[in-house]
Amino acid sequence: MIISLPASLGIGEKLSKILGLEHANTDYRIFPDGESYIKFTVSVKGKDVILIQTTYPNQDKRLIELLLAIDAAVFYGANSVSAIVPYMAYARQDRVFIEGEAVSIRTILRSLRSVGLDRIYVVDIHKENSLKYFNGAAYNIDPTPFFAKVLRNVISEPMVIAPDLGAERKAELLATLLNTEFVVIKKHRDKRTGEVRHELPETLDVRNKDAVIVDDIISTGGTVAKIAKYLKNLNARKVLVVASHGLFVGDALEKLKSSGVDRVYVLKTVDINISSEFVSILDPTELIAGRIRETFSSK
Ligand code: R5P
Repeated sequence: MIISLPASLGIGEKLSKILGLEHANTDYRIFPDGESYIKFTVSVKGKDVILIQTTYPNQDKRLIELLLAIDAAVFYGANSVSAIVPYMAYARQDRVFIEGEAVSIRTILRSLRSVGLDRIYVVDIHKENSLKYFNGAAYNIDPTPFFAKVLRNVISEPMVIAPDLGAERKAELLATLLNTEFVVIKKHRDKRTGEVRHELPETLDVRNKDAVIVDDIISTGGTVAKIAKYLKNLNARKVLVVASHGLFVGDALEKLKSSGVDRVYVLKTVDINISSEFVSILDPTELIAGRIRETFSSK
């Protein structure tokens, strides 16, 4: 049974049709003081329950709602509890950069497990290795083959660019699927100030090529804008961007446009509305359904 939580992005209903499963929404309220209230509208007793909730925006609130629902599903006798989290917040704080820091994603994944989550599905978590903090079945859904399919129809002579080492594996796979080369740009971050410096190669032959920047997330747009400017200066024919999660914080869209990006492709994994020709927002439901089919088994 699929249960859509308040930030399910409409994926739950579509997924239930694709997989032929029962679907229900939850009753959801916010008390005057800001606290969330969740109530199941159907019985989950004896069911393998799959909850759907993304966690942006508001990360903290959406995570609390997810915790409430997992705990309630266990309390009301679900046979197993799984969660599909299209965007997993806090994933970028995946280690100690400065002594004393909390490893946020470890806290989040341990908390989800501790209230009774058996299985978690996440779309393109920042580092797949973080899923080791979830002491249950954990699946990362990699959208790279899906992006490759979309891009094949709109590019010619591509070159794939990873804006940092973290995106190397993604760039390598995308380049293989597009039958082309890839380049990794090294990025250095000052741990204290957070300031970022890229080691941009002096020469890179992107003339008359479609450059494709691939990353997991666009937040402020700063990383991609920097690389896009560089590629335009080297006379790339087009600069396209594929990123799983488009948060587009503040003036990110303007920043990307003015840096020379021609088009951005993201998945609908976060709860924001953008209506701009400049951004293609792709539905991840089929991608998620495929992974559920491959991996799901009752407890
Ligand atoms: C960093 O490691 C991530 O993969 C992204 O490159 C980064 O978080 C993007 O952030 P922004 O859009 O703010 O530059």
